[in-house]
Amino acid sequence: MNNFTLHTPTKILFGKGQVAQLRAQLPHDARILITYGGGSVVRSGLLAQIRSELAGMTLFEFGGIEPNPTYETLMGAVELARAERVDFLLAVGGGSVLDGTKFIAAAAHYDPARDPWHILETVGNEVRSAIPLGAVLTLPATGSEMNMGAVVTRRSTGDKVHFFSPFVMPRFAVLDPVLTYTLPARQVANGVVDAFVHILEQYLTYPVNAKVQDRFAEGLLLTLLEEGPKALVEPENYEVRANIMWSATLALNGLIGAGVPQDWATHMLGHEITALHGLDHAQTLAVVLPALLQAKRQQKHAKLLQYAERVWDLRSGSEAERIDGAIAATRDFFERMGIKTRLRDYGVADAGIDTLLGKLAEHGMTAIGEHGDIDLVQSQHIYEAAW
Ligand code: NZQ
Ligand code: ZN
Repeated sequence: MNNFTLHTPTKILFGKGQVAQLRAQLPHDARILITYGGGSVVRSGLLAQIRSELAGMTLFEFGGIEPNPTYETLMGAVELARAERVDFLLAVGGGSVLDGTKFIAAAAHYDPARDPWHILETVGNEVRSAIPLGAVLTLPATGSEMNMGAVVTRRSTGDKVHFFSPFVMPRFAVLDPVLTYTLPARQVANGVVDAFVHILEQYLTYPVNAKVQDRFAEGLLLTLLEEGPKALVEPENYEVRANIMWSATLALNGLIGAGVPQDWATHMLGHEITALHGLDHAQTLAVVLPALLQAKRQQKHAKLLQYAERVWDLRSGSEAERIDGAIAATRDFFERMGIKTRLRDYGVADAGIDTLLGKLAEHGMTAIGEHGDIDLVQSQHIYEAAW
């Protein structure tokens, strides 16, 4: 096992009715900006409920944060936060609202002489403070509620890039599985597949004898395999939703990634596909991952065999057959969740591989994966195989 430092200070308020705890989490004299997305929280009544929970406090609101939140939209909230001297942010929504709010938090405190896009250009390394934030999560998927990452898109240039900063780690997150009942099937599937791939990015690398992390990861994978399809047919099954929600948080809160090598190439290749073609984040992962696993099957040989045996119960046949079986089963799982696994399935006329590779180069993604051995030539092969 490799050395690690793990610090996950987010307070989790999990379960039915936990929105009622919100007021107690917020400083009583705070100037709070509530951020939300395109209106799901208005339609579900959640926003109204939060307003009433926080009645009497100083509240501002900023709605309209879109999926794959954009710098262009978020800068409106940064101006509002600065003008109103907001000192707490409350993100209400999915990963996009949470990520967008992390950007607002860091940008509002950033050197006013600099364009806050600089935060993305420097991957968050120059963030020195941020407005504290909390979250009410409505879509289990990204793990953003308990991590320090955020992904922001700049529409004008077609960039979708991430930053990290401990200053934007949520202080608290309310996780009420009931809030996920209203999710459309597509977003349920997106969430399950995104969380599944987060686990694989930290698990399917090479062995370092990290038994605890491996077995936690396998437990989370098996839970998502069991519960994911059920959520599509029984949207109001609380136990199913609860298990998915907690799995998605634990998939990317640092726990299973501590002390092990990590890949993340599927995500990096996927972000460029969203930026160019507009596919949902999880759709890009479902397209890229099977192609990447085939391309890297030698480097990932030992862990692919472990994955085949412990997650898919594939114990007979040659090693190559078991690995093929595990990759095929993974693809089949995504398809059963309703997510297509070929780029051409998404009505994209041309993969635009040259543009994708150009953006990878621009973003410094020329030596990625757990060995840093996925260069632009390999990425090209993976994109071609994903078509
Ligand atoms: O905008 P509203 O109206 O709220 O609707 C949203 C949106 O259209 C809807 N939705 C959310 N909760 C709902 C609901 N509809 C009905 N009922 C509910 N309870 O779902 C749609 C998608 O929401 P979005 O927040 O975009 O989805 P997700 O949570 O999958 O977030 C995706 C974003 O997170 C980034 C992705 O790149 C993408 O930009 N990621 C963030 C990560 C992180 N911070 O660690 C890691 C991930 O790998 C990922 O890259
Ligand atoms: Zn993801």
